[in-house]
Amino acid sequence: MEIEEKYRWATGKIRKKVKDSSDAISTLANCAAILNESFPGFFWVGFYLKRKDHLALGPFQGPPACEKLGTDKGVCADCANSEKSIVVDNVHEYAGHVACDSRSNSEIVVPLFNRKGKLEAILDVDSEDFGEFSEIDRKYLEEISEILRPLWD
Ligand code: SME
Repeated sequence: MEIEEKYRWATGKIRKKVKDSSDAISTLANCAAILNESFPGFFWVGFYLKRKDHLALGPFQGPPACEKLGTDKGVCADCANSEKSIVVDNVHEYAGHVACDSRSNSEIVVPLFNRKGKLEAILDVDSEDFGEFSEIDRKYLEEISEILRPLWD
């Protein structure tokens, strides 16, 4: 399957889960599972949840990861502060990158907002390959971010 076809399949599944959602965390857990199932090449896919002064590990698929990320340093922190997606071709060249697992070599992060436009979480995907993520990934993961918006009031 082509990458765009995989994303279309995944977004359809996620849309349905959000429509039937009764609990945001449960739906985020299914969303991580759907993305992991659609893209076996993803090394890690999951969510960091915005807390008062840090980001907390949320539902994910992949190896164990950092439970708490500061808001001053790292790709997720930069995403939370700028509220913009970030594509990192080589994490080892990214100033401040937080390595939860040394096998990750590239990464994409996308901010998630509630209905009122307030930041709620970060969607983070890691790959063992360098330069794995492109504008296509950004486009579809940002679409997924929009689909997830109704999970929060
Ligand atoms: N690399 C991230 C930390 C989270 S892991 O990739 C799962 C960062 O620099 O914020």
